[in-house]
Amino acid sequence: MSQQWQERYAGALMNTFGPPKLVLVRGEGAHVWDADGKEYVDLLGGIAVNALGHAHPALVAAVTEQLTTLGHVSNFFTSAPQVELAERLLSLVAADGRVFFTNSGTEANEAAFKLTRRTGRTHLVAAEGSFHGRTMGSLALTGKPHMREAFEPLPGGVEHIPATVEALEATIDESVAALFVEPIQGEAGVVELPDGFMEAARELTARHGALLVVDEIQTGAGRTGQWFGFQHAGITPDAITVAKGIGGGFPIGGLVTFGRASSLYSKGQHGSTFGGNPLATAVANAVLDEIETTGLVENATVRGTQIRERVEAMDSPLVTGTRGRGLLLGVALSEPVAMPLAAEAMRAGLIVNAANDSTIRMAPPLNIGDAEVDEFADKFSLALDAVASRR
Ligand SMILES: Cc1ncc(COP(=O)(O)O)c(C=O)c1O
Repeated sequence: MSQQWQERYAGALMNTFGPPKLVLVRGEGAHVWDADGKEYVDLLGGIAVNALGHAHPALVAAVTEQLTTLGHVSNFFTSAPQVELAERLLSLVAADGRVFFTNSGTEANEAAFKLTRRTGRTHLVAAEGSFHGRTMGSLALTGKPHMREAFEPLPGGVEHIPATVEALEATIDESVAALFVEPIQGEAGVVELPDGFMEAARELTARHGALLVVDEIQTGAGRTGQWFGFQHAGITPDAITVAKGIGGGFPIGGLVTFGRASSLYSKGQHGSTFGGNPLATAVANAVLDEIETTGLVENATVRGTQIRERVEAMDSPLVTGTRGRGLLLGVALSEPVAMPLAAEAMRAGLIVNAANDSTIRMAPPLNIGDAEVDEFADKFSLALDAVASRR
């Protein structure tokens, strides 16, 4: 069965992703099944999206109830779920502000990029190795030249600097409109910021009148053991962008601004047909409710620590360490074997991702328990042994 779908995929879908690794037909909790009936434990979670796992009853109920009540109305109108979600996102940061809803992460960063032009300054600063999305503005912010080059000219004014406090000190001045930063660079291979970076970023941007925009698209919704990654540093940015986990699999994103950043856009300067419709916002409210009421932010810390301890206890010559926070995890490898290792894991019935040649990334559902951690450990250890024995 899988083979046939793969062939049809190759004939009908654009070749932007390469051949799909699996043809999936069903999911439940942290498990998915492919078209040939094989079961996998999913430690990638749709790349940090399926915060509640697959087919969670709260998510299914929210979609069903809202869609049978009021699905979409356009932004000429509002609805209770939209207002409630905006208020909820602001309350999670405990700051006054405003929200603009989008359908994806890259659109949230586009909204932020455009917003910075309203400061009267055009110099933007972002980190080398960063990933902010694939649309033109977000791509311009992305610190990976190989992704940008084929699409130039991109919106101008973006300078990429090493993610160090020294580089920040040398760059942030009165010309800078905004600094964009991910609390952990997920796409780069779960790369953490150096100690003190976020605090220095806050201090320097505030001192020079620049905005601090934190891209929480991969790190938000409780993934790192705080609602948002920047909260580990105890600062408040001028804006955050969110997507992925807040919808638990339903497409939604948002730009959340605080303080003066909240009044930079005026009427007519930005928009979206779908953004913030009753359906998407009702689902996100249900996801955030579930995360809150079942303690999943705390569970991210507990399970993340457990997974790291299990990986380290495997004592594999291929593993040099683990990185990340909560349930955004990287396994650092001593050799560039991430691709064969992810393939071997998949053969063993485990979905993880080769974020780069020498890093395995995991971003599982936030509600995993002992059983899923055990299953992961058994299968990952088998995969490591298989790859090690082939060297
Ligand atoms: C940090 C970060 N920003 C932006 C994006 C883009 O989000 P989307 O794919 O929803 O457009 C991603 C997606 O991987 C991301 O990880």
